[in-house]
Amino acid sequence: MYMRLRSLVISLYNALFARAVEKLFFHQLVTKTNNFGRSKWLGKPIWQNTFDLWIAQETIHDVKPSLIIECGTNRGGSAYFYAQLFDLMGAEGKVVSVDIEKLHDLSHPRVTYLVGSSVSDEIAGKIRKMAEEADGPVLVILDSDHSEAHVARELEIYAPMTTVGSYCLVQDGIIDELFMFRKGRPGPLPALEKYLTNHPEFEIDHDRCNRFLITHHPKGWLKRVQ
Ligand SMILES: C[S@@+](CC[C@H](N)C(=O)[O-])C[C@H]1O[C@@H](n2cnc3c(N)ncnc32)[C@H](O)[C@@H]1O
Repeated sequence: MYMRLRSLVISLYNALFARAVEKLFFHQLVTKTNNFGRSKWLGKPIWQNTFDLWIAQETIHDVKPSLIIECGTNRGGSAYFYAQLFDLMGAEGKVVSVDIEKLHDLSHPRVTYLVGSSVSDEIAGKIRKMAEEADGPVLVILDSDHSEAHVARELEIYAPMTTVGSYCLVQDGIIDELFMFRKGRPGPLPALEKYLTNHPEFEIDHDRCNRFLITHHPKGWLKRVQ
């Protein structure tokens, strides 16, 4: 009797309240951490949700990319983190990271920093050449201008550089879900949803997206399956 009642209460909670509780918790977490803007990786500023960084770490270990393409360097911590994962893995990987501004003075032998717009012909051409020359998996991370129009252009340019079995991570679809980010809409989510309707070579890896319940990148882990 007790077990039936307990399972009924849990089912009711899951059906009626769980998502709202997760969203409220996420709202608190984002507000109180200054949206993760104060996080650091070994002293280097990194503007990422640390739950999401853990999934990135697991994915990089699973895929073992030869090249990670990052749009949106900012203060450099994320590219530095990816490069140091390669160091720890004893792998050959390289990182190319682009930003319209240079906001850091970091350097790492594995990282090529480019300054310019991710959607300019010049930058896209340079990165395409690096992707073609990579002799293993290519992983793409889109974390620059999060407007729908910009993400749609980045997806057209960079998603095709993703090798089969690897991922294109579209960051910050949370803009389209959390009320506090409404001024940034339409953001990455509609861009990626529209892209997927015409690109069956990509599928959402829901397990990677949802494992820690809260993520800045809902539906963001796009796996290239063909
Ligand atoms: C969210 S931050 C990147 C955070 C960084 N990946 C990290 O984890 O620390 C977004 C960056 O995108 C850059 N950005 C905006 N528009 C861009 C564009 N058209 N091309 C490249 N970078 C752009 C901004 O200057 C900003 O530094």
